[in-house]
Amino acid sequence: MSNPRTLRPARLAMPVALVAAALLAGCGDQSKIDPETTATLIQPVARVEIQAVTITPGTRTGEQIYKSICAACHDSGAVGAPKTGDAAAWGPRLALGHDGLTASAIAGKGAMPPRGGGSDLTDTEVSRAVAYLANLAGAGYTEPPVEQ
Ligand code: HEC
Repeated sequence: MSNPRTLRPARLAMPVALVAAALLAGCGDQSKIDPETTATLIQPVARVEIQAVTITPGTRTGEQIYKSICAACHDSGAVGAPKTGDAAAWGPRLALGHDGLTASAIAGKGAMPPRGGGSDLTDTEVSRAVAYLANLAGAGYTEPPVEQ
């Protein structure tokens, strides 16, 4: 049996030689790196990143919209907003119906800006968020489905 220490340089020599050979082979041969091939190789990564930041307008659910926009006021009842799940606060408002409340939220009311401040929300998205919010106070509205 040889001393393991004496083996180490030998084990390293092989990969180092291969890397050096690969680097040398690449020198002066830049034309072989085809930009299209590179684009194809990185495409899966690039595509995933684009999907992660893109929100297709109109595809958000009531719950997603509520949590990202409406909760800021309605969770705590800030600036006089009827509090989420507070049936007494929502009771008289529910008389407007799903469409009436959606129209209110689209136009804005009192301290609530139009679309609750979510200026890129579609009318249907506002309607979904209203259904989600009002249903937590017992409204029983049907949230318009998200068409993918
Ligand atoms: C900046 C705070 C704020 C945000 C954000 C906000 N609201 Fe409101 N909302 C209010 C206030 C304040 C009222 C009460 C307005 C009044 O009656 O004067 C209200 C009332 C409402 C009403 C009842 C309207 C009526 O006619 O009685 C609905 C429905 C509603 N909000 C939905 C939403 C939805 C859906 C979102 C998210 C897209 C949202 N709100 C975001 C503050 C907010």
